[in-house]
Amino acid sequence: MDADLVVVGSGFFGLTVAERAAKELGLKVTVIDRRHHIGGNAYSEDDAQTGIEVHRYGAHLFHTSNKRVWDYVNQFTTFTNYVHRVYGVHKGEVFPLPINLGTINQFFRANYSPSEARTLIEEQAGELAGTDPQNLNDKGIQLIGRPLYEAFIKHYTGKQWQTDPKDLPAGIISRLPVRYTYDNRYFNDTYEGLPTNGYTAWIERMADHPNISVQLNTDFFDESQPVSKGNVVGNVPVVYTGPVDRYFEYKEGDLSWRTIDFEEEVLEVGDFQGTSVVNYNDADVPFTRIIEPRHFHPERNYQTEKTVIMREFSRFAEKGDEPYYPINTEADRAKLLAYRDLAKSENSVLFGGRLGTYKYLDMHMAIGSALSMFDNKIKPHFEGGEALV
Ligand code: FDA
Repeated sequence: MDADLVVVGSGFFGLTVAERAAKELGLKVTVIDRRHHIGGNAYSEDDAQTGIEVHRYGAHLFHTSNKRVWDYVNQFTTFTNYVHRVYGVHKGEVFPLPINLGTINQFFRANYSPSEARTLIEEQAGELAGTDPQNLNDKGIQLIGRPLYEAFIKHYTGKQWQTDPKDLPAGIISRLPVRYTYDNRYFNDTYEGLPTNGYTAWIERMADHPNISVQLNTDFFDESQPVSKGNVVGNVPVVYTGPVDRYFEYKEGDLSWRTIDFEEEVLEVGDFQGTSVVNYNDADVPFTRIIEPRHFHPERNYQTEKTVIMREFSRFAEKGDEPYYPINTEADRAKLLAYRDLAKSENSVLFGGRLGTYKYLDMHMAIGSALSMFDNKIKPHFEGGEALV
């Protein structure tokens, strides 16, 4: 194999490392991915029936306040002026989310000023003042009061975790944002938008360099192919962005994850819900939310007779499921520390990305941490001969 660096995983972390190494250092980089496409979980494709761009692994909204990341990603794509907003259905009525003055006034059928609303919520949260909540349910009540908690958080969280919040640790939430203005913009970041020509066009441009070779349908643990763990580690430096427990053959135990099942449907209506994301906050609806991807790109001339929707069902991941959100129990944290020790002594292998570090990372965080790995480890190694640890 003719490579200076092997990158396992073609998500944003792996591709950022590959792009920097090829362009700035002139290295020959081989990127492998076990899937049939590049881009990791940010991959999108046009639905065959409607031409609507569908984010295959769940809705992906780009946002960041990191100027370096923003400048970096703008080399590969322009962004639309899409601003993300979310609505939620409770008892047959649609409310703006995250909880804001609009939500509060609609919910209490009132005309509270910001300070009146703040006083009300403080009073309601006072029900459990001075106590030390032992579960997520009590913590939620203590943070925002029982009425809003029970309407908008309790059942939604219960569905996300497939567990009654009374049986979930309080530590899952540290705060529940309530805005005492009518601002229902979902993200507070300086920069926000969606890639004008879609995620896949953006991702393909990152990989489009003569020094980068991409091999799809290639599993690092398949020893019958040349770019495998056994053939590469110790011979060529590796950036590994797959699951850290898998790398070490689960010897410290499996790390636990939540996954999502997507139920996709093409409907014979031009517009199903009038917006991109609607949460279903009550227990009697089994899914957590419905995504309607046409609304991510109102500037595109999508046909008006049909639309695509995706219902999301959340559950604990089993072996073979896509790992989406780290659960991060105490047992997981102990295992992760053990895996980190193993990773430190793994010769010339760097672990990165959300699977390699067992951390939920937004796209801008994955890109930012890949840029840091490049600056702090990869560049000093190839330019200054420093050990790759
Ligand atoms: P990523 O998972 O993308 O890539 C890892 C790659 O490694 C995969 O392609 C995998 O196939 C490959 N791989 C694993 N094992 C391998 C092996 N043995 N051999 C070869 N290849 C292997 N972020 C955001 O900013 N805004 C958003 O709205 C969302 N929304 C969102 C929704 C959902 C449901 C999820 C799960 C995540 C998001 N994200 C997000 C987060 C976003 O998906 C995340 O930041 C990036 O995927 C991180 O990129 P990585 O490269 O770290 O991992």
